[in-house]
Amino acid sequence: MKLLEPVRIGNLELTNRIIMAPMTRCRADNPGRVPTALIAEYYMQRAGAGLIISEGTVVSRKGIGYINTPGLYSVEQVGGWKKVTRAVHDAGGRIFTQLWHVGSISHPDFHDGELPFAPSAVNPGLPIRTPSGRKLTVVPKAMTEDDIRQTVSDFKNAAIRAMEAGFDGLEIHSSNGYLFHQFFSRSTNLRGDQYGGSVENRTRFYFEVLEAILSAVPGEKVGTRLNPMYHGRAGIFLDEESLPTFEYIVRRLNDYGLAYLHLSRPFFPVDSPLLIGDVPAHFRKIYKGHLMVNGGYDGESGEAELLAGKADSICFGKPFIANPDLPERIRRGYPWAEAHPGIYYSSGPEGYTTFPAYEPGK
Ligand SMILES: Cc1cc2nc3c(=O)[nH]c(=O)nc-3n(C[C@H](O)[C@H](O)[C@H](O)COP(=O)(O)O)c2cc1C
Repeated sequence: MKLLEPVRIGNLELTNRIIMAPMTRCRADNPGRVPTALIAEYYMQRAGAGLIISEGTVVSRKGIGYINTPGLYSVEQVGGWKKVTRAVHDAGGRIFTQLWHVGSISHPDFHDGELPFAPSAVNPGLPIRTPSGRKLTVVPKAMTEDDIRQTVSDFKNAAIRAMEAGFDGLEIHSSNGYLFHQFFSRSTNLRGDQYGGSVENRTRFYFEVLEAILSAVPGEKVGTRLNPMYHGRAGIFLDEESLPTFEYIVRRLNDYGLAYLHLSRPFFPVDSPLLIGDVPAHFRKIYKGHLMVNGGYDGESGEAELLAGKADSICFGKPFIANPDLPERIRRGYPWAEAHPGIYYSSGPEGYTTFPAYEPGK
């Protein structure tokens, strides 16, 4: 099977093409948002993946929008992550971290009453789980140029800390309606300055962050994630400039020699005449480097995508929650377990580290 063949990402030789997708699991349940021994155990159990991409990891306090999500902005967090990366490496695995800033998908309760950041004052209109229960998002603060400069620097510092923490690389979370996506989209970016308007301007902040990271970390250790057909959530809608915007980004990414481009197919139904049906095939024609694809794959459809030459690796999300040994199950044709969504963002080991590897006959 092609899924089980080795593949190169940057300077790493991965043992297979089965990648574990970034998944927020809200288990950093301490005031400093420091990764715990439980988190190390969870990732260690999944070290058979060709590569693990960690859950979204906030680059600054301002980047927070969920309870108990870990960060990479303090010395203590670096210490916690060191235990995670060591556990994964000792088990023979590889792990990138996903650098995250939620932008407007947050609440003032996470920011001492201050407004969350966004390109423009557009309320994403989503419920947020705050420490004192569910609340609706508010109209965020349109970032000043100083806020933008500070955020660029926060990403660079988090990238440096990621290397200190022993990660094999990092992925920029530039998808799924969060801060970068809010800059890309005309429905959430209403700016009249050099960060809004044209395609070049709406992507300027993203490329500034990418270049700041690349001034500290080699390109072969940097990946980035895009979900070009995301539509109808967080105030983001497809319009006639969406596809050209993502084509522009992907074309430019060719110049940076990155580890990979991680593309998601939409993972909820998209009702728009602007939807393109085959996201991997479309962008495969544009991107020259390693293309990783994600969104609703099982073993069979993932294998078919690789055989059709549409991608170099397949990234699995939900299947890894209940199947820590997913590559082994694919290799041996074992059945897959399914997790109840109620445990995705719960707390403690239950539904987190309690899923066993498959044992025949049991
Ligand atoms: C519980 C859960 C948490 C997620 N957290 C993140 C995240 O932190 N960062 C991210 O880019 N995507 C996140 N996603 C999206 C997944 O990475 C993936 O794109 C999505 O689940 C579709 O892939 P799948 O069909 O293989 O599950 C999350 C998905 C789930 C189910």
